[in-house]
Amino acid sequence: MADVPFRTIHQIVKAARLRLNQTHWDYLVGATETETTLKRNRMSIDSLALKPRVLRDVSNVDTSGSFLGHNLKIPVCLAPIGSLQVFEEGGGATAAKAAAEFGCMVMSSSVCMPSLEEIAASADGPKIFQLYVRGDADWTDEMVQRAIDAGFTAFCLTVDTATVSRRERDIAKGVVPTSTAFMQNQRDPSGNLNYQAMLNWSDVKRIREKFDIPLILKGINTKEDAAMAVDHGIDVVYVSNHGGRQLDQGRGTMELLRECVAEVGDKAKIAVDGGFYRGTDILKAIALGADIVGIGRLEAWAMAAGGQPVVVRMLEILRNEILLGMALSGVTSLEELDESFIAESQPVVPPSVFSAFPLVDVDDEGY
Ligand SMILES: Cc1cc2nc3c(=O)[nH]c(=O)nc-3n(C[C@H](O)[C@H](O)[C@H](O)COP(=O)(O)O)c2cc1C
Repeated sequence: MADVPFRTIHQIVKAARLRLNQTHWDYLVGATETETTLKRNRMSIDSLALKPRVLRDVSNVDTSGSFLGHNLKIPVCLAPIGSLQVFEEGGGATAAKAAAEFGCMVMSSSVCMPSLEEIAASADGPKIFQLYVRGDADWTDEMVQRAIDAGFTAFCLTVDTATVSRRERDIAKGVVPTSTAFMQNQRDPSGNLNYQAMLNWSDVKRIREKFDIPLILKGINTKEDAAMAVDHGIDVVYVSNHGGRQLDQGRGTMELLRECVAEVGDKAKIAVDGGFYRGTDILKAIALGADIVGIGRLEAWAMAAGGQPVVVRMLEILRNEILLGMALSGVTSLEELDESFIAESQPVVPPSVFSAFPLVDVDDEGY
């Protein structure tokens, strides 16, 4: 285990709170408008209970998973986070190094530092490049080619961000997050965001036909779009409402997951994110058909709490939670999990971005 002082994830969350100024903290934890979608993510996860089996030999539990041909210590991907460098100066390279050191997947955001080539060169673990489209077809294709040349395992288009949403914690302070400014300046200094708004299925078709790399669409919320993704030859349907940071008043993660899994079946792989902060959260997603689970804020909290060693420690704790959750559910491999391990239930705490951490009091300065 890395030599860092954290024994629980709530200690990492608290340390991030103490290290970050209010602006960066709000950028990290915040969501859109009423933040209802974010709360529904937690509500949907906490509304499911695990149904354990007993008297099975669980003396040897295997938490590993496989995704896009890579073996992972746990079926987890560090989700793309713009402006990671405001939490820790190494930014996307630090996250990539932590994922490689631990043994999980990482998805690198196109709106964080350093460059995609530098991120790719920083670590040799499996990694995916995520793009926000800030230019025309030539620009986009050039970005795909750069990602391939740099050695990324797969390419992801985020498709739930036709426009930047109203994140009121930032707006009220007059703050434009670094990643938003970066998006605006990446191609068009006048701040023209229309390329992302113009993005449509014909772009997906073009990219699919032109490039031989696993393709992922991140931000699929409905069975209709999941079906279209499959029709377009997409390899991974990434079910996500962007952690509640795009459309407000959306549905919770688990509802989206169930609907999309039922539609996609084995025609594509399923990734999911939004509100997964515990090992048991991840087990629920796997039981409902996800192949891999993305973690966003968890990654950012760990980055802010101490960079690479703390991200690795967070992943080790998460792995321990997954392992214990599996043993106590009576399974020794993730393939054994299915819907029979899941029951509808009642949340026991009001949903919030902190509801997975009942011991954390983010306003308690005496930590
Ligand atoms: C601070 C922050 C920045 C993000 N930046 C990006 C980004 O650049 N690209 C992207 O596709 N998603 C981005 N997301 C969304 C995450 O990839 C992921 O979908 C979301 O965080 C999952 O929810 P969770 O934070 O509850 O785990 C960001 C999320 C956060 C919290």
